[in-house]
Parts: sequence; C-alpha cells; structure tokens
Amino acid sequence: MAQIGTDLQAAKAYLEAGNVVGIPTETVYGLAGNALNPDAVLSIFRVKNRPSFDPLIVHTDSLSKLSQFVTHIPDAARLLAEACWPGPLTLLLPRRASIPDLVTSGLPSVAVRIPNHPLTLRLLASLDFPLAAPSANPFGYISPTTAAHVADQLGDQIPYILDGGPAQVGLESTIVGFDEAIPTIYRLGGMAPQLIESLIGPVAIRTHSTSNPQAPGMLSSHYAPRKPLVLLQPGTSPPPGHRTAALAFRHPFGGLSDAHQRVLSPTGDLAEAAKNLFAALRSLDALDVDIIYAELLPNLGLGQAMNDRLRRASVQP
Ligand code: TXA
Ligand code: MG
Repeated sequence: MAQIGTDLQAAKAYLEAGNVVGIPTETVYGLAGNALNPDAVLSIFRVKNRPSFDPLIVHTDSLSKLSQFVTHIPDAARLLAEACWPGPLTLLLPRRASIPDLVTSGLPSVAVRIPNHPLTLRLLASLDFPLAAPSANPFGYISPTTAAHVADQLGDQIPYILDGGPAQVGLESTIVGFDEAIPTIYRLGGMAPQLIESLIGPVAIRTHSTSNPQAPGMLSSHYAPRKPLVLLQPGTSPPPGHRTAALAFRHPFGGLSDAHQRVLSPTGDLAEAAKNLFAALRSLDALDVDIIYAELLPNLGLGQAMNDRLRRASVQP
C-alpha cells in the first residue's frame, strides 16, 4: 500500500529510480513519472489502465526549461505562459525529440504546464527531468482532488503519494493549442476562457470532435462516476426517492435527506463549487443509492468547464 506523506526526498528518490508517484497540483492529483524515461512512462499507462493513444502532460517548474522540450513557442503561447504559469493551463507546443513518442502518443506536439503547488514546484526544481503526469485516477473515472482519493484507487500499485492537501482549483487544466488560425481550447478547465481571451484575444473552443480527437479528454466516457448520473436544469429538483442522491449548486433540494446530497457553494461562488465538485461526486458515488442527479451550473466562467464534466459523466438519453 502506498505511503502517504510530505517527504520530498522520498518522492524524489522513487522518481529517480523510475517509479511512479502521486503528486499534488492545484488542479487535481497527478500520477507522475520521469517524462524522459520510457519505462517510467509505460508504468504510468499501466497503473492507470490508460490506452496508449491518449498522450500525457509534461510538468516542469520554470519557463526557462521549456526549450529543452519544445522547438518553438508562438507569441500567444508565450504571453499566456508568462501571465498564467504556474497555473491551471496546459499549452500544446511543437515537441523536441527528447520527449519520448510514448508521452505524446506519436503526436508532433507535446502538452506542457507549470503546476501551481509549492510542494510539487520544489520537487520539480530538485529533479533533472520533467514529470509526465496524467490525473491519478483509473482511466475514465473522476479525477482525484486529495491524496486519499489517489490511495483509494491506485494505492496498491504505487509506492508513494506526496500529500499537498486538497486541490485548490479542483478542475483539470485548460488545454490550449496554436495550430489553427486562432488559438484553440481543446479542453475546458481550471482557467476560464474569458481570462485567456483577455490576454490573447479571441480563442476558438473545440472540445467536441468526433473522430480522432486532438485531446482525448474530449471523449464522453471521461470523468464518470460508477452510478448513473442524470442532469438537472438549474433550479429544477430531482424526483423524490430514497435510493436517490443529488448534487446541488447553492441550495439543498427538498424531499431528499441531507446525507444524500451535497451543496457545492451556498454563496454561489463558482470557484468554490469547482473546488468541491469531484470530491462531492465521489462521496455520492460511494453511497448506497441507485442514481445521482446533478444540477447544471450557470454556464459562465468555471461553470462552463464544470458543466462540460457533468455532461461527459452523465448517461446519454
Ligand atoms: O490539470 C491537469 O492537467 C492534470 C494535472 C495532473 O496536471 N493532468 C491531467 O492529465 O488532467 P490527463 O492525462 O488526465 O489529461 C491530459 C489531457 C488528455 O486529454 C490528453 O489527451 C491531452 O491532455 N493531451 C496531452 N498531450 C496532448 C497533445 N500532444 N495533443 C493533444 N492533446 C494532448
Ligand atoms: Mg484525466
């Protein structure tokens, strides 16, 4: 069973030996390995049960190291990196051959980001390689926002989980690429599109592509709890029933016990709701109920990314 702790030396030693370790970030916990070591990268795919066509994000701690992994940084990407990193933003950039094919699933671009978490930034600064890290959940399940979430599902397969407390953003990073006529968001996430547009001007949002998705995080099988999840329009209530659980934005639903529902933010704060979303879904999924209802959020700012996750997690009518 994985040890959980805050021992940076232990985490560093495991990573240097080619092992895979749970690491905290501000978005969600990652399952990290040496991005330059194909065997370590292979272990990440194996532990997560992730298909090898789904590429990984490379994490580093400083902009100056970026040129070791990418051949070119477009002006818009540099602007975003300087304004938003460390932060919940991933950039798709043309990769150098130093990054193994396995990391990018053979794509000519590599996904990179500087995560905003003090422990993980110190860990990255102490290593002489970057860390490849997908979210530390079994493929297709809800991403983990605490060390305990990681231990629950992957604890028997990894030696160590670095505990950095609950993730402060709670949604995976926003992914932006620069291969189209205008910068394009391929995954909505912890950095709102409006914020990105305020820095670099208009962006396209292309998170729904059917064939050969640029970012397989777009597939609808992602982020799902095990129980069927049914969406509710804002302000509507689930049907009464004692085998029913529900996720509410601001106000608890009548006709449902407190134990069977979670309120994401009584004050209506979208950032607070985002921080609580995945833990709330996990705890509802663990209840002895047959179905989970989830109220959609106002579709602005982080609400857009949360609604995207809820839609992908929901049963299709
Ligand atoms: O917030 C996050 O991004 C977290 C933390 C741990 O950093 N990581 C994360 O990784 O969410 P993961 O593997 O669960 O999602 C990464 C997404 C996948 O949908 C993958 O397909 C996409 O990034 N991706 C990675 N490299 C790509 C590339 N070269 N081109 C297009 N999409 C890419
Ligand atoms: Mg993931």
